[in-house]
Amino acid sequence: MTAYDIPFGVEVDFETGAMEAADRVIVRRASGMRGYYADADALEQIISSGDPIHYRVYEKAIPEQEGHLLFCMSVLEPGRVGREFFFTKGHYHTVADTAETYLCIRGQGIMLMKTTDGRWAAESMRAGRMVYAPPFWAHRSINTGPEPLISFCVYPAHAGHNYGDIETEGFPKRVIYSPSGPSLADPASLC
Ligand SMILES: [Fe+2]
Repeated sequence: MTAYDIPFGVEVDFETGAMEAADRVIVRRASGMRGYYADADALEQIISSGDPIHYRVYEKAIPEQEGHLLFCMSVLEPGRVGREFFFTKGHYHTVADTAETYLCIRGQGIMLMKTTDGRWAAESMRAGRMVYAPPFWAHRSINTGPEPLISFCVYPAHAGHNYGDIETEGFPKRVIYSPSGPSLADPASLC
């Protein structure tokens, strides 16, 4: 029996996205995003100007076992690398037939999703909107707004994370700034 086999509660701050009494805070800085953005030079400039935090994920250390649910608060900072809005690395689940749901608490953005057989989808994220990533769909958050994009996520605790495939494949669309608003671009158009 672990501490998480008995009921508990935890406070979350909707303004900052922080989970009080989190067991883990995953901090991803700009330098952890090398290789992900089309404009590598622009990313290096951001890194050399203080290597700011890109995003944080607050979690409780729920056992990674079937039956449990893992949940997190995700805080993605606003900004751009070249024309691309800041995004999370994105991942499939190691146990690929596991889903995930995100409830956006603050900010605005897009959840990009894709499958290994070439399908893709983009769902808008804004406060009060929930996005569902079904089994087998990789998922990446993109912050297209001026404030932090904060969301609450829940997924089966045994799902695991597979970042490797995204690192090599990327996503079939990139989300870029344009004067008329965020738009989806083919990766080849940014090279
Ligand atoms: Fe996930």
